[in-house]
This record gives sequence, C-alpha cells and structure tokens, in this order.
Amino acid sequence: MSHPTITEQLSDPESARESGRKKIEWARQHMPIMTAVAEEFGTETPLEGEVVAMAMHVEAKTAVLTEVLAEAGAEVAITGCNPLSTHDDVSAALDAVDGVTSYAKREVDDEEYYAAIEATIDHAPTVTVDDGGDLVMAIHENYPELIDSIVGGCEETTTGVHRLRAMDDDGELHYPMFAVNDTPMKRLFDNVHGTGEASLSNIAMTTNLSFAGKNVVVAGYGYCGKGVAMKASGQNAHVIVTEVEPRRALEAHMEGYEVASMAEAAEKGDIFVTTTGNRDVIVEEHFEAMQDGVVLANAGHFNVEIDLDGLDEMAVGRREVRDGVEEFELPDGRRINVLADGRLVNLASPVAMGHPVEVMDQSFGVQAVCVREMVENSDAYDAGVHEVPDDLDREVAEIKLEAEGIEIDELTAEQTEYMDSWQHGT
Ligand code: NAI
Repeated sequence: MSHPTITEQLSDPESARESGRKKIEWARQHMPIMTAVAEEFGTETPLEGEVVAMAMHVEAKTAVLTEVLAEAGAEVAITGCNPLSTHDDVSAALDAVDGVTSYAKREVDDEEYYAAIEATIDHAPTVTVDDGGDLVMAIHENYPELIDSIVGGCEETTTGVHRLRAMDDDGELHYPMFAVNDTPMKRLFDNVHGTGEASLSNIAMTTNLSFAGKNVVVAGYGYCGKGVAMKASGQNAHVIVTEVEPRRALEAHMEGYEVASMAEAAEKGDIFVTTTGNRDVIVEEHFEAMQDGVVLANAGHFNVEIDLDGLDEMAVGRREVRDGVEEFELPDGRRINVLADGRLVNLASPVAMGHPVEVMDQSFGVQAVCVREMVENSDAYDAGVHEVPDDLDREVAEIKLEAEGIEIDELTAEQTEYMDSWQHGT
C-alpha cells in the first residue's frame, strides 16, 4: 500500500493548510534571495521535466524552497529528515501546491519515517535534496535501479556531507552530490549564526530560563559550536567549551572561553549544548557528576550526542515537566532535564521554528542554484561529492547584498593583476 500524504493523515487538513500558508507567506516576504531566484526560475522554468525528491526539515523556509523548485517546472515529493522537526500545517499547505506532494509528518516512529522517505523515492526522482543523508542512503541501499536516471543532488548539513564523503571514499556513492553545507554562504551564516541564535532562543522558550550568569557548556567548537558560544556569551553566560581537536580548543581559548574536558565541565555546567555531530559526547560518568536541575540540549544533526539510553538506565524516574522538557531523576534525587528528546533543539522542541528566515534564505538560495546547476550541467559532474562552484555562491551573496542595499568595492584591473601575480615584491 502506498504511504499516505500529509493531507490523508490529518483530520482537518483545510485549517492546517490555512495556518501553514500564513507561515510560508511570512517567510517568503523576508527571503529576498529566494524571491529573486523564483523570478528567474519562473520565467525560464529550468527544472521542467525533472522530479525532485527532498528529505528536509519541513517548516516554512523549506516550503519556500520547495515551491520555488516547483515553480521552476519540477515535480517535487518531500518528506522530513527528522521525526520531530516537521510542521504539519506547513506540510499540508505544501501538499496543496501544484506539482508538490508532501509526506512529512511530525512525531513519526522510525518505520513511518523511512516509509515516508521511500514514498518520495517512489516518484522516481531525477534530483535529490537531502539534509543528513538518509534519502541518498535509502536510494543506494534499496533502489539502486533508479540511480542511472538521477542527475545529481545537494546535501544541506555537515553530518550529511561527512556520510557522503565516507560513502565516496568507499566507492559507494554512485551519483554526483553538491556539498552545499561547505559553501561560505551556508556554513558561515547558517551553522554559526543560525544554529547559535535558534538553539539559544529555543532553549529559552522551552525552559523559560535565562542564560545570564549561568555556566553554559558547549560541546564542539566547530561552526555550530562557535555560534552557540558567541550568542550565549552575548547573553551574559559564562561559556565552557569542550573539544577533541587541539586547534579548535586553542581557538576557543584565544577567543576568551574556558576550555575543559567534559568530565570537568560536567561538574560546573548549568546548561549543556552539544554541537559535535559525534556520538556519546555526554555519557554516564558525566551524568554522575552533574548538578541538580541541569538542562541538556543537542544541536547536532542526530540524537546520539547525549546518551539517553544510559541516562534512562540510571534514572529511577522520568516525567515530562514542561512541554518538550523531560526530567530524569537519579537515585540520589538529582534531576537532569533533557530537551526535545535530545534531537536538534532549534528544530525539534515543541516551540521550534528553526533558523531565522534571513539565514535560511541564504542556505536555500545556494540549494536552488545548485539544483539548477546539477540539471543544466550534469555532464560536468561525475559520481561523488563536489564542492559548489564558487561563482554560484558569489551569485547568491551578490543578490543578498543588493537586497540589503549594501554596496561594496570592485577590484581595479591593476589590483586584479597584482593579486594574481608572483613577480611583485618589495
Ligand atoms: P564541525 O565539524 O565544524 O564541528 C564539530 C566540532 O565538534 C569539531 O570541531 C570536532 O572536533 C568537535 N568534536 C567532535 N567530537 C567531539 C567530542 N566527542 N567532544 C567535543 N568535541 C567534539 O561541524 P558543524 O558544522 O559545527 O556541525 C556540527 C553538527 O551540527 C553536525 O551534526 C551538523 O550536521 C549539525 N548542524 C546542525 C544545525 C542545526 O540546525 N541545529 C545546522 C547546521 C549543522
């Protein structure tokens, strides 16, 4: 039996559609890059005849990307890339758009999650747009016969790019994929500012607690960790960074943060935010050392950074103390609060809206031009992971600067010659 669309799963799809439509319109109004790309795509319809399968966080900004791809002529089938990040109303509104089918639903179990991914694959995609890699993996594992007709795809996040590179190294990635995550227009804004702002605001909204005067432990000082540390510091928290990479640890130290092992930080922290993309970052020995009432949140892609099974085994009690906050009581009476089931807090907490609109405008602007590039120049890309051509990333930056009314200088011919030459010395 085919997997039901969101419309088929909701009891009142009409009111859901109405609410979702408002959210999408609000986002679109604040996305000048997507507006410019949509204008161009709308007249040229560069995706005519293509079928795009997407596994993304289905909320308002993603809906704008989806609509823009559909307006460019593509048939689009979309589902979630996390069991808790879908906004059902946005999903319903998308499902009503011409050329779009949405299977995304919030709070699905693993079986439903993968069934919805397979439902998008049943549309026989020629392009895939993924966040985390589950869609590409499902195609390679279960639908290898479709690979020949796929021109290529795009990957949105660090964890997905890691998985694709590992697949590529093993010779197991059989179509071209753009590492959208790795572009300056995505990573320097979305991972840093988006994750920083959205994780902190969602922790604050979910708990109603302040960061001021607290010890905030940030695990991982990569792009996301830097953003979380910067924004927490800006809200008057004392930030403690944990790392495994010596240069990043030093960078955090030089930027003024306390750097410690998790064993040491566990004793001091009030709020913990994991941003490593790795597993088992906070485990039993750390829970043992934590103070009563600590708050744990994850901002990395998967829910494996905090060992929730281990915490559950240690706990004598477990209850939901607020919407999206689960309290684990340890035998000595200490309480440990986990937000959003340890799933990425900026997207999975009950009040979550994901990154700010402006940031996603940039990320999805890059996604949109990359889909166009993959379709128009597919012969230029072999199977494997590809960097996004720099001129595409610049194109998106230029649109944004123009929309912001910001003018920058241009290199003169002499400056260009000087920068390109090795002959000029003292
Ligand atoms: P990154 O690779 O720049 O940073 C990760 C850092 O964690 C590295 O410096 C690494 O050395 C460190 N690390 C690894 N294992 C560790 C451990 N056991 N303890 C302490 N530090 C450790 O990656 P980036 O771009 O910061 O992404 C991190 C995660 O966040 C990924 O899973 C990515 O997919 C996800 N992400 C989440 C977003 C969100 O909306 N919440 C947005 C963008 C990315």
